Amino acid sequence: MPTTNAHRLLTILALICQLPYSLQQDEEEQHGHTHDLDPMIFTDFAATDEPIGSIMTLHLASMILAFGIIYPIGMVLGLVKSRWHVPVQVLGSLVFVGGFFLAHAHSGRNYEPHNAHRGFAWFVVWSLIAQVAMGAYLKLHLEKGIHGRIRSLFVTAHRWLGILVPVIGYTQIVLGVIAIVGFCYGEHTGQCLAHFIMGSSFAGYGIIMLISLRVGGPWLLKRQRSQEWYDSWMITLWGIVNTFTEHRWGSNWNSSDYQHTSMGIIWVAAGTVGIWLSRNEQRSVVPALVIALTAAAFQGHAQHVANSGHIHSFFGYMLMAGAISRIVEICFVWKKGVFTVSPWQYMPPMFLMMAGVIFMGATEEQLSLLATIGIDPASYINVLLSFAFFLFLYTNILLGLWERLSGYDNKASTEGYTEVEREELHDGASFLEDDEDDYTKEHNALALGSLRQRD
Ligand code: HEM
Ligand code: HEM
Repeated sequence: MPTTNAHRLLTILALICQLPYSLQQDEEEQHGHTHDLDPMIFTDFAATDEPIGSIMTLHLASMILAFGIIYPIGMVLGLVKSRWHVPVQVLGSLVFVGGFFLAHAHSGRNYEPHNAHRGFAWFVVWSLIAQVAMGAYLKLHLEKGIHGRIRSLFVTAHRWLGILVPVIGYTQIVLGVIAIVGFCYGEHTGQCLAHFIMGSSFAGYGIIMLISLRVGGPWLLKRQRSQEWYDSWMITLWGIVNTFTEHRWGSNWNSSDYQHTSMGIIWVAAGTVGIWLSRNEQRSVVPALVIALTAAAFQGHAQHVANSGHIHSFFGYMLMAGAISRIVEICFVWKKGVFTVSPWQYMPPMFLMMAGVIFMGATEEQLSLLATIGIDPASYINVLLSFAFFLFLYTNILLGLWERLSGYDNKASTEGYTEVEREELHDGASFLEDDEDDYTKEHNALALGSLRQRD
């Protein structure tokens, strides 16, 4: 009997191992896969018309599983030093390696040979090789002599690269989606980049706001900074970059150069006001005002594709809702030293994620496609909003996992709070820290006081 079971198991394993090859054979009989196509044959789109094929479907599914689900969960497990970290990341890496081979085995649709997904793939692959190699070294727990010093360097590098892995993976997934549909090619590249970078930045800002809201309180309190101090620095620096890079110096100015460069200038101006106002741990509405101004600017943004006006103004409303709810949160809802989250406080990050996802879904080509297949903008917006809700939920789940496994949620609950526990709570956000600068007793007392007041 055991032999029969072992036989069955072996047969199943053999079939699973053969699956990619048999699928490839099936597909190769119908089509081929080459990287030698003349780029001149790609006029409007960077992909041919053939079906994408089952190997490509398996490639994208396995990569989304590895980078979208397994690695981020494993990252959280690493941050809380769970014993499940290594097994989960080994599983993620196996799925990644499988996905890598599938990517090279695909047939069916062919792609423009210089697509960004192919170029960035090598960066992803080497980052992961470095991450897994550092992980393996750390797992050996060599701590004597020179290893003591190397180890702490590797822990820091492994931690920060580990936090970057979901970001790198996200970028590669977006580039993969663009590659598979052949969008953003030729004259579309510029506005496509603008939409994906801006949209990702808004959604990313929403994610950072949510992290700061749920677990960043102790960290900010310890550093004696308000979040707007960091936000304003980002706005100022980003403004400087935009001021000098949006126009090709030496060439003539066009209306888009004026729009983007002036946006850079206002960001520098407003950002510096924000830095000044948010000194000494003060909260400031300036970053939210910058968002509101951006929303207002989009209401008047010139559009020349069908449905574009509708979707851009919806984007503007979401951004404005984010800005207004943030101003209310800062002025009337937030209380210093209180780490429990009130329902209102979830609104600003949620609206920013919605705005970001909608903006990513509003490139010229996506909107023309809607018009061609006859999907109305309202239904399309519903689908984009669903993505945003999912992103919001997923970020909350990952944060919840961290809170629970690190013991943060017990300490942050205001019941039976003591001074000693408060100090531990400060350490709860230690994954974000490099140095151990101390916060003053007054802060402790103040925060503790407001915690008790709430009770
Ligand atoms: C598959 C191979 C991997 C192995 C064997 C491994 C192993 C380890 C080990 C042993 C630690 C504990 C370090 C210590 O002593 O403090 C650790 C921490 C960590 N790992 Fe990995 N890891 C792997 C992959 C990854 C990946 C792919 C990521 C990111 C997605 C990641 C993210 C992290 C993070 C964020 C920490 C916490 C570092 C800290 O703050 O102390 N690891 N890993
Ligand atoms: C982080 C996740 C991903 C990684 C690391 C990754 C990695 C790779 C690699 C290594 C290749 C082979 C490049 C070459 O031929 O030199 C590839 C090809 C490809 N991938 Fe991905 N991929 C990911 C996600 C996706 C997703 C989500 C999609 C689609 C929705 C996708 C679509 C494609 C396409 C269309 C190709 C063929 C490109 C060509 O043949 O030129 N990938 N990918």
